[in-house]
Amino acid sequence: MALFDPFPPLGSAAERQISAEGFVLPPGYHLRPAQAADAGAIRRLVWRSRINPLGLDWRRFWLVTYEERLAAMGQVKPHAGGLRELASIATEPAHRGKGLARGLILTLMAQHAPPLYLTCRAELRAFYRPFGFAELDPEEMPPYYRRLWGLARLLRPAGRAGGMAVMCWLGVPANKTPAAAGEDGPEPGGFRRR
Ligand SMILES: CC(C)(COP(=O)(O)OP(=O)(O)OC[C@H]1O[C@@H](n2cnc3c(N)ncnc32)[C@H](O)[C@@H]1OP(=O)(O)O)[C@@H](O)C(=O)NCCC(=O)NCCS
Repeated sequence: MALFDPFPPLGSAAERQISAEGFVLPPGYHLRPAQAADAGAIRRLVWRSRINPLGLDWRRFWLVTYEERLAAMGQVKPHAGGLRELASIATEPAHRGKGLARGLILTLMAQHAPPLYLTCRAELRAFYRPFGFAELDPEEMPPYYRRLWGLARLLRPAGRAGGMAVMCWLGVPANKTPAAAGEDGPEPGGFRRR
């Protein structure tokens, strides 16, 4: 099996993927794997975006840059038991609404076979649904996420898990709307879609 090359030469798979995965970055934006020199910028965007600051190994990150500065980023991070999580998705405020997070998510989904999990604030469920992610009920969650969900509920008891959602992509093709991905029909893997 071919190993994923985290440092493809320019003009190779990294750039071809821009169109292969069904998205086009706006002019001036570039998609590439992170390098060691990006570690500081990754941490700074994590802190400014107020997302989980744990597990930030730059080697797992893909970035979108603009004028060679970090504009958006994301990673897939491993957990015990072979679980993999789409994480650290963030776009600099000045670059939001241009499809950068979408491009990163599609790129990461193309590199990692399902299932992929994620946790997000409840208000972001609508952001992830079109990619094929569906929210899990507690009994559907792997133990790691059930513990996290329970902790979130303890810390912020108001509302569903204090506003935290656990979602899973089981292989419904990305790029489809929830309806096109089967919302009206049987659910893949038996998970309900919200
Ligand atoms: C959420 C976030 C990553 C979106 O980044 P972005 O680059 O602006 O997103 P995109 O432009 O790729 O948007 C892709 C789609 O999601 C939609 N979308 C964007 N933000 C959304 C939100 N908060 N809720 C619902 N949909 C949203 C866009 O309208 C777009 O839809 P379209 O393809 O139909 O036009 C960005 O707002 C951010 O960095 N927020 C702070 C960090 C954060 O909360 N990260 C998520 C951690 S779970």
